[in-house]
Amino acid sequence: MKQQTKLLKTEEGLALVSDELKLIGDYSSLLPRVSNNRVQGEMLVKAVRMKGQSDLFVLDGTAGLGEDSFLLAAAGNRVLLCEYNDVIYSLLKDTHHRALLDERLTEIAKRMELYHGDSMSLMLDWAKGNCPLGNERKTPDVILLDPMFPAKTKHSLTNKKLQLFQSLESPCRTGEELFEAAMALKPKKIVVKRPLKGECLASRKPGYSISGKTVRFDCFVF
Ligand SMILES: C[S@@+](CC[C@H](N)C(=O)[O-])C[C@H]1O[C@@H](n2cnc3c(N)ncnc32)[C@H](O)[C@@H]1O
Repeated sequence: MKQQTKLLKTEEGLALVSDELKLIGDYSSLLPRVSNNRVQGEMLVKAVRMKGQSDLFVLDGTAGLGEDSFLLAAAGNRVLLCEYNDVIYSLLKDTHHRALLDERLTEIAKRMELYHGDSMSLMLDWAKGNCPLGNERKTPDVILLDPMFPAKTKHSLTNKKLQLFQSLESPCRTGEELFEAAMALKPKKIVVKRPLKGECLASRKPGYSISGKTVRFDCFVF
């Protein structure tokens, strides 16, 4: 059953609350994972990495609260974060804004640019030469896709953030279209985050995968 949620301004930042849960984005909690160059050991960072190329431009087509994007930005990449859900975008914007004001996070947050809208339309328009952000924009080297997991994976049931997200957003039913739109933009690589035992997005077999305890990154290199 979907939970009733509302947005509340709190001292810590904008929060999404339900009777049982409270969700506030906070990139400072990721500092232990990124400091002393530890971030280079993150599975996601390894999945996005491309031999001989640094400072990649990554499009995160399913930004959520931007934690994955934060890790990528901490590793030195520039990241464009797309989020279409109004409530989640408000939380993302507030989290990013607070990070810009926090001197421990400013430099990383500056490498993150937010876009409120549907990444599928953005990618298709961009591929046709009509980028809503300006036609002079370089297309992304890498596209990251992390559409909502189906509700009953072990990971989603034990993850409070996912429970609240699922109260706002249905599991993705447009995996094929999302993947096709990403392909249209001709990136060098597409990385798809999946539950460890989940099916491949749009039934596409990746070139290789990097797996952890609960999630897997499927990598498609072109
Ligand atoms: C599982 S969450 C992503 C979590 C994210 N990787 C993080 O680190 O916080 C999926 C998010 O993608 C968003 N989303 C799904 N399809 C989208 C689309 N076509 N365009 C923009 N946002 C999308 C959903 O609203 C949801 O917030």
